[in-house]
Parts: sequence; C-alpha cells; structure tokens
Amino acid sequence: MRISVIGCGYLGAVHAACMAELGHDVIGVDVDQAKIDALSEGRAPFFEPGLPELLKAEHGRLRFTTDISEVSHARVHFVAVGTPQLEGSNAADMRFVDASIDALLPHIGPGHLVVGKSTVPVGTAARLAEKVEATGAELAWNPEFLREGFAVSDTLTPDRLVYGVRRGDDRASDVLDEVYRRPLSTGTPRIITDYATAELVKVSANAFLATKISFINAMAEIAEVTGADVTTLADAIGHDARIGRRFLNAGVGFGGGCLPKDIRAFQARAEELGVGHALAFLDDVDQVNLRRRQRVLDLITDALGTELAGRTVAVLGVTFKPDSDDVRDSPALDIAARLALRGVRVKATDPEGIETARAKVPSLDYHPSARDAVAGAEVVTVLTEWREFRELDPREVSTWTDARTIIDGRNCLDAGAWRAAGWTYHGLGRP
Ligand code: UDX
Repeated sequence: MRISVIGCGYLGAVHAACMAELGHDVIGVDVDQAKIDALSEGRAPFFEPGLPELLKAEHGRLRFTTDISEVSHARVHFVAVGTPQLEGSNAADMRFVDASIDALLPHIGPGHLVVGKSTVPVGTAARLAEKVEATGAELAWNPEFLREGFAVSDTLTPDRLVYGVRRGDDRASDVLDEVYRRPLSTGTPRIITDYATAELVKVSANAFLATKISFINAMAEIAEVTGADVTTLADAIGHDARIGRRFLNAGVGFGGGCLPKDIRAFQARAEELGVGHALAFLDDVDQVNLRRRQRVLDLITDALGTELAGRTVAVLGVTFKPDSDDVRDSPALDIAARLALRGVRVKATDPEGIETARAKVPSLDYHPSARDAVAGAEVVTVLTEWREFRELDPREVSTWTDARTIIDGRNCLDAGAWRAAGWTYHGLGRP
C-alpha cells in the first residue's frame, strides 16, 4: 500500500520505518528539515534499538520529505504528531494535530483514509472527521501503544490493534487490515470500535499503568515506616495472576513523554466533560509519583546533612528509563537538577542520555563513565536502571571512590552484595 506518515518524531519515524518493513511504500513528512535530512541519510534522530537498521534497509520503500504535497500519491495517511502538555495547563496541546489535518486536506479525497495515531483527548476524532469527510476521504483512529526502547518490536508485533471507525465503516477497517496484514496473520488480536472508545483505550491504558506504578510506590511509603520490603511485597502480590508482577517496580517513579502528561490531559478532559470526579484519583497517582523524587533528596540529606552546598553527589542514569536517550519528565534528571539548584556538585553519567540531558540541564557535571562520575563523590545514586549500572561490582566501585553510601533509586542492585562490600545501601521502600 502507499502510505504517508505525518510527523517524524519518535512515534512517526518508528511507524514509517516499520510500515516500510511490513512491505508498504512509505513517505514520512515533517516540517523539521534537520530531522528529515537525518532520516533520509538513514540516521535516527534519537536512540532507539533496531531503528537505524530499518532506516538503512535498501528496499527503496522508505522516503522522507518536508513537502506535504508529496502525500497525494499515498492512500493511507497516518497522523503521528505530538500532543504535549499545554504550557500553564494540564490539557493536551492540539496545535500539531490540527495543523497536520489542515495541511493534509488539500491533498486528500475519495478513496483516501486518514488514520490518527497521536494520543488525543476523547472527542477529537469525531471533531476531525467532519473536516476529513468534507473532502470525500475517511478517518479512523488507531492508537499506538509502543514503549521506548521496544518501539520497533511493539510496532511490528503489537499486543493488540485497535481501530476506531465510523459505525459501519467496513472500508476503513478493511484498509487497516491490509496495512497490518503481517501482524494480523500471526494472531494479533484486533478490536474494531467507535472513535471515542479507541481514543479512550490509549489514555486509559496509560492511566492504568501509571496507577499501577504509583500503587507500588505508595506501598513503598508504607514499607518505609514499617520496616517492610516493597520488592518482596511486589513479588508476592505479583504471583496472583490477576495482579501480575510487571509494572510493580517501586523506585523514583514514572516519567517520559507519555505517562505524566497523559494522566494530566485525561483529567483535564474529564473535567471539561463534567466528570472530573471520576478521575480525581489520578491526582494522587501524580502526587505519589512526585513524592518519590523528594524521598531520594531526603535520603541524600540524611547522609550528608542539610547543608548541601559544595557537596558532591554522583548520579548514575539521567534518562527516564534505560535503553532510551529521552529525558522528558525524567525523575532522574529532575532529582539531579534539584540537587544542583541547592549548590551540590552533581557528577552525572548515562550510557545514551548525556547530550539530551546537557541540553536541558547544563549545570550538571557530565562524565562519560560511572567510574569518572563516582570519583570524588560523597554519595552515589543510581536513578535509571541501565544494565551497566545494575552489573557494577561494588568491590570495584570501592576502588574508584571514597563514598560508601549508595542510594538505589530503582531497587535494581543486590543490596546484600553492596553491604558485604562495606557500603551503606538505601533502596526505596526497603529496610
Ligand atoms: C508508555 C507505555 O508503556 C506505552 O504503552 C505508551 O505507548 C507510551 O507510554 P514509555 O513511556 O516508553 O511507554 O515507558 P514505560 O516503559 O511504560 O515506562 C514509563 C515510566 O514508568 C518509566 O519512567 C519507567 O521507569 C517507570 N516504571 C515502569 C516504573 O517506575 N516502574 C515500573 O514497574 C515500570
């Protein structure tokens, strides 16, 4: 099929590359010339395992351009632009979605299908459908559930496909079946529903995941005052198949470009719809999450005393999670920045995130390796659970630094091994 993808950010670039991999002819469009140049040369503008290989594939089915008129050759147009949090509000900024649809309108007509992938407030698709249908084209909403670090496999072999279509619009679902023939042929479940349900599937999935993480972090708060161990608790409740162990890792909490802004935008939309009370609990989900960052700052103060100015702390990991260079709403970078604001010399390192972090928080002292970052530090913190930090040998680290306090913000280290090597170990929600 001939496909266009509007927006070549994180979601769009991965989607375009994966659609070409599935055998389609794809043109990716973005207004950012630098991004288009990088993608055209087979370079991913961000770190994502597996993506460079797809961009370099020599099948000739993948092109990128800044010229929107080139989409007229395609028949299926995916809209994959961002919906960031609006400045000064919790609501989603719909500017890019609206601009993309407006830019598409002159180039579409009967026989074209516009497919929304962006995460949007419920009600958006119905509003946009009127504009799209006035050209004779159709609109479907097909939310994306990809995780950074696994974006390629999540797109090529998704857990499920959701199509939001106009009631009885079999043509739109037939076209999407054709687009996703390969994953469907291997048994990927597909749910065909209305626009509102499809939009809600995405935000409610993210709200559920955020709630699950904050639930275990709330248990960590209780564990901290009772001497219980939240990691054992998570293992034990996770054995119940109804609960499940995944997304029950207590630590500095969730960040990234999706969960934090999506739960806020979902609440804002519920309030607009007059049912804000239904999502009032998401406020607590957000608050529990933010309190965990303060907990790490408190542990550092406990170790160093309240006068932090002039002290030195090593921060291992600044991205919002491993296998990503993304520092959007990163709990790790937020903690590091707050330490720096209090006059701490923060020696930070990260396998992939140093450049993105430096652009956002230039005041940290960035180092290429854990060994360099811990040298001269008085406290060592692990705030993102990259494999190379999980696998640090505490006895070896002892030869790099005089520090003997380790704060494990992700509960990812072997507490016993660190204690045996002479360290004072603090996890979150662990005795
Ligand atoms: C998320 C959703 O998982 C994905 O389906 C959606 O499409 C986009 O948002 P992503 O933001 O890539 O994906 O990250 P995810 O793996 O979900 O992690 C989100 C945050 O939660 C990270 O900061 C991670 O460190 C944190 N987390 C995750 C925990 O603190 N504990 C856990 O047990 C799991």
